[in-house]
Parts: sequence; structure tokens; C-alpha cells
Amino acid sequence: MASPPDTSKTTKLERYNSYLRRVNSTKLLSASSNLLFRATILISLLLLLFFTLNYPPLSDLSSSSSSSSTHRRLSFLSSALSSSFGGPTWERQVRHSATPRRPSGLSVLVTGAAGFVGSHASFALRKRGDGVLGLDNFNHYYDVSLKRARQDLLRARGVHVVEGDLNDSPLLSRLFDVVPFTHVLHLAAQAGVRFAMKNPQSYVASNVAGFISLLEVAKSADPQPAIVWASSSSVYGLNRQSPFSEAHRTDQPASLYAATKKAGEEIAHTYNHIYGLSLTGLRFFTVYGPWGRPDMAYFFFTKDILQGKTISLFKTQDDKEVARDFTYIDDVVRGCLGALDTAEKSTGSGGKKRGPAQLRVYNLGNTSPVPVGRLVSILEGLLGVKAKKHIVRMPRNGDVPYTHANVSLAGRDFGYRPTTDLAVGLRKFVKWYVGYYGIQSKVNKLQEGSRGGSDSK
Ligand SMILES: NC(=O)c1ccc[n+]([C@@H]2O[C@H](COP(=O)([O-])OP(=O)(O)OC[C@H]3O[C@@H](n4cnc5c(N)ncnc54)[C@H](O)[C@@H]3O)[C@@H](O)[C@H]2O)c1
Repeated sequence: MASPPDTSKTTKLERYNSYLRRVNSTKLLSASSNLLFRATILISLLLLLFFTLNYPPLSDLSSSSSSSSTHRRLSFLSSALSSSFGGPTWERQVRHSATPRRPSGLSVLVTGAAGFVGSHASFALRKRGDGVLGLDNFNHYYDVSLKRARQDLLRARGVHVVEGDLNDSPLLSRLFDVVPFTHVLHLAAQAGVRFAMKNPQSYVASNVAGFISLLEVAKSADPQPAIVWASSSSVYGLNRQSPFSEAHRTDQPASLYAATKKAGEEIAHTYNHIYGLSLTGLRFFTVYGPWGRPDMAYFFFTKDILQGKTISLFKTQDDKEVARDFTYIDDVVRGCLGALDTAEKSTGSGGKKRGPAQLRVYNLGNTSPVPVGRLVSILEGLLGVKAKKHIVRMPRNGDVPYTHANVSLAGRDFGYRPTTDLAVGLRKFVKWYVGYYGIQSKVNKLQEGSRGGSDSK
């Protein structure tokens, strides 16, 4: 016979179970609030770390030069919100890159360092033991991946390129607070003659406003740096005297680009006159070479010839061939270094002139103009392809028919002597081009084909 259920035992069991459920839910509650508490602490710590890294101690701000300190503090805070500069890690990187590795080496801020001339000049300075810090805004005027590739190369050689715009005055001020630059090599600009008809404002923003922004910061820096900057052969504009010498007329620019470079020369005069900044302008003549600019004729002719596209060659209004004083990048870089080495110190301090300062302008060209048709036949030989050519009259887009540099002034003052002729320089360019774009085997085949073709004649 079955015995009756023990009710007191069942009740006890139920009570025990409900006790267990209560304990479990309390545990769960306390575990989750514990987790929440820990997460809050962690997030607070992360936020604290972020602000410590990205904002300098207030003492840093208050110790920076007196009169403009409030303005600087405000502008620093506003820019700290919009960009990621200013923390101790960033400062260490900046300082390390700008520190010379040789006794009495220069400490140079190179603007436009991810650009064609800027990257080469930065290498050369770093190679001889100078401190180099780059600045570039990586704009999209041409293939940004090429600028990034140059930046990667610079990084591998210990040159840091800060990403930022010339017009970001708080950033520039901060750089000068962190590093007492001895020199600035100012190459950042909106380059190219034809693009000015599409986007004139970009020339005003970089070549005029950007230059002034840099000069404003440089004039207040202590010490004031000596500045070497890129003007252009385009300032000769409609000048017909040849070879172009620094004493010739430069008041008839043929393009907006040229006009902004000419404006730069006048602006340089003003800052030299009022603030004692040492300023040297370099008028480059059609610079070419490895890691060059894709918007320049030698570069896009190479691309188009290899792709079998027709290239347009210009003739002048009076049916003459267009010619350029093509200058190889290594020659130009030697000129830049010569100008930096012979630049005298600026004489101002605290934004005030203390005496007359150096003001110079030099041509950096090759002294031997070459017709563009000859450039194309050298490329045809190097690539093993006959170009499809279309001869057209030069449109009125700002290009000038002819350039030819007299470089005796640069030769006299810092031993500038261009040594690379166009055939040698283009060979080096093509070698780089086919390597960089991974088309060596295609070009080898084309070259073999063209040799075979001429053998069979
Ligand atoms: N290459 C030539 O044949 C030639 C001839 C005459 C003058 N120049 C001058 O030489 C300098 C260098 O020319 P390049 O051929 O190396 O040109 P580039 O375009 O390759 O280099 C200029 C660099 O400056 C940067 N930049 C432009 N505006 C900027 C801004 N507002 N802030 C920060 N960075 C900015 C660009 O991103 C670019 O990387 C330029 O001033 C150019 O006008 C060049």
C-alpha cells in the first residue's frame, strides 16, 4: 500500500527552491552591476588617457610666447578638436624626425614633402644627416596613392610627414612650438598651369593664402627660420628675352598659376622688409624624373604611348615647336640644398625686424631647351613603341611656347651646375616608371619587338 505524500517535506523543498532562485537572481543582479561598474571605470580611464595624450598640459600653452597666447590657446583647442595633433606621442615623432643626426646639421620643415620635389629633397637632406619634418595635405590633384607611396619611403628613412594644410595656422604654430626649425623648404603649392582654368581657387588657397599663413607663423617663431621656397619659371610669362635671367621682366604672367607664383615673390619681399625673414625663391624649370608628377607631359606621354593612345603635341601660334628647359630632379635638389646652405639667418625676433635680411631669387634650370618632339622620340626609343602623334596649335591655356634658363647667378652663389641631359634623365624615369607600375615585362617585349622590326629591314 502506498503511504500518503509527506506535505511538510514538499513545502520545505518548494521554499528551498524559491530561496535558491532569489539567491541566484540577486547574484545575477550584483554580477551585472559589477560588470557595469567595471565597464564605466574602464571607459573613464580610456577617456582620461585619450585626453591626456591629445591635449598638452596647460603649462605648455601658457609658456608659449606672450602676446598671442590667448589666441593660440583658443585656436589650439579648436584645432585639437578637428585634427589629431598635439599629444606627447605626436610631439616625440615630430621632434625625432626634425632632429639633425650630424653636428651643426639643419632642422628643416619641408612643406609638400609627399610631392615630387619635396620627397626627393627630404631624402637628400636626411641622407646627409639633417633633421627633416614633412608637411603635406595629400590633396587629390593627382593620384594620392603615389603621394602615399612617397610618404612610406620617407617613413622608412626616418622622415615623418605630418598630414595637414598650410592654412591650418594652429597646426603650424604647434610645429614651431615643438621644434626650433632653422630652415623651411617650402614646396607645397597647387602646381600645374592648365588646372588653373578648372579650379582657380585652389591656387589662391595654397599659393597665396597658404604661403601667407606659413610666413605669419615663421615671422613670430623664435628663432625665425630662413625660408627657401619654390617659385617657378612660369613667372617669365610673356617675356621674350632669352635665356631667361632673374633681371628680366616678370610682370606679364600668362596663367593664374604664374600670377600666384609672382604674387609669392612680392609677398616674400614684404615679409623680408617688415619682419626680417630671410627668403630665397627658386624658379624651377620643368622638373622631371623618377617619382614624378602624373600631370606633366613626359609622364602622361609615357603612359599614353604604352597604352597605344594618341598624344597631342603643341606647335606655337607661329608654327614653331614648343620647347622646354627640362631639368632633372637630382640637379634641382642639389640647387635646393645649395640655397638652404647659403641662406643667411633671419634677423627678426618676436615678430619684429632687428636688421636687414637676405632676399634672393634664382633660376634652377638645365640651360638647354629641348623641343617636345625630341622628348617624344627619346621616349619612343626607351619604350620600344612608336607614338601616335597629333600636332595641334597650342591653346591659350597659360602654357608658354619656350623656356630657357640662365643659371649663372645660382652657379656663382652656391655652385649650381646641372649635369643631367634629357636622354639620361628620361632613361632613369622610364626605369622607375616600369618598375613602379609593374610593367617591366611588357616594355621588354615591346623593346625586343622594335629591335626585331629594325633588324628585319
Ligand atoms: N615640378 C615642376 O616642374 C615645377 C616647376 C616649377 C615650380 N614648381 C613648384 O615646385 C613645388 C613642388 O612641385 P612638385 O612638382 O613637387 O609638385 P607636387 O604637386 O608633386 O607637390 C606639391 C605637394 O604639396 C602638397 N600641397 C599642395 N597644397 C597644399 C597645402 N595647401 N597644404 C599642404 N600641402 C599642400 C600636395 O599634396 C603635394 O604633395 C611647387 O611649389 C611647384 O609649384 C614645380
